[in-house]
Amino acid sequence: MLCLGIEGTAHTFGVGIVSSKGEVVANASKTYVPERGGIHPREAARFHAANARTVLDEALREADVSLDEIDLVAFSQGPGLGPALRTAATAARALAVWLDIPILGVNHCIAHVEIGRLTEGARDPVTLYVSGGNTQVIAFDAGRYRVFGETLDIPVGNCLDVFAREVGIPHPGGPNVERLARDGKHYIPLPYVVKGMDLSFSGLMTEAVRKHRAGADLRDLCFSLQETAFAALVEVTERAVAHTEKKEVMLTGGVAANKRLKEMLRLMASEHKSKFFAPPMKLSVDNGAMISWAGILAYKHGVRHRLEETVVKQRWRTDEVDVVWR
Ligand code: ATP
Ligand code: FE2
Repeated sequence: MLCLGIEGTAHTFGVGIVSSKGEVVANASKTYVPERGGIHPREAARFHAANARTVLDEALREADVSLDEIDLVAFSQGPGLGPALRTAATAARALAVWLDIPILGVNHCIAHVEIGRLTEGARDPVTLYVSGGNTQVIAFDAGRYRVFGETLDIPVGNCLDVFAREVGIPHPGGPNVERLARDGKHYIPLPYVVKGMDLSFSGLMTEAVRKHRAGADLRDLCFSLQETAFAALVEVTERAVAHTEKKEVMLTGGVAANKRLKEMLRLMASEHKSKFFAPPMKLSVDNGAMISWAGILAYKHGVRHRLEETVVKQRWRTDEVDVVWR
C-alpha cells in the first residue's frame, strides 16, 4: 500500500509518498519565504496553491509511480494557519475524490514524532519538537501523546527569527544566529523563564533586542540568546525524562538543525543513560513523508474519515488524538 501525504500547516508545501512497510519513496517540498517580516497566512496559502502541482509531480517522479498506484491520501489537518491548512486539505480532497481512494487527516505534531520513530528506530522517546511555529515536549502515556511542557507565548524558532530581524541579521534568522553565536565569547545575562513545566521566550527576545540597541556585541548576544533559550528547553525536557523514566530522547523540528542545541540535549540524554535520536533534517523540518507515515499508522489501525470529517483544525492539540496504533 502506498500513501501520499500532503503537508501544508505553515511555510512548507510538501508531498511525501511512503509504503505501508515504512519505506519513504518520495519527499518533495517547496517553502514560502516572505519578502519581509513574518508569515502572512493568505500569502502562504497562495504559495501552496501555486506550487501544489509542481511538488506533486516531483514526488511522483521521485517515487517513480503514477497517481493510480496511490492507495491512500493523508494530509496535515492541524494545527497550523487556517488558509494554509485549507489549501492542503483541498488538494487532498481533490485527489481522494478523483482517485476514489480513502482520505485521512493527521496531526502535524504527532507526525513529527512518528517519522522519527520510523526512521531512527526510537521506540518510546521523550521528544523535543522545536520549530518556527511550535515548541513542545511530547511523550506517550496512557494511549495519548501528552504535552509535558510547551511555550506559553512564542515558539523558540520564532524568538530567534524575530530577534534576527529586529537587529538586522539577514534571513534565515536561526542559522545566521547560530553562525554568529560561534564567535560569541561573553555571556550576557538574559531572562531565563521556566514556569512549572512551561516555557516563555518573548521576554528573552525583547531583552536581547534591547541590549543590542544599548550597544552589546552582536556575537555575544547571539551566543547568550542561544545559551539561555536552549538551557530552558533542555531543563524542561530533562524534567520530562526524569518524570516519565523513559530511556530515549529525540530532537526534531526546524530548530533541530542547531548544533549547539543538539549537543546540549545529547549531553543531557547521556547523563540520564538515555539514547539520543535526531532524524535527518529533511525529515525534521515540515515534510510530506511524515504526514504519509502518520496516515498509514492510523489507517492500518482502522481510523477512517468521511469527507465531512476532513475540516481543518487550526488549534488541534497533540493530546486530543487517540493514538490507536500504539
Ligand atoms: P512548524 O510548522 O513545525 O512550526 P516551520 O514553518 O517553523 O514549522 P521548519 O522548517 O520546521 O518550519 O522550522 C523553521 C524554523 O527553524 C525557523 O524558525 C528557523 O529559524 C529555525 N532554524 C533553522 N535552522 C536553524 C538553526 N541552525 N538554528 C536555529 N534555528 C534554526
Ligand atoms: Fe512542524
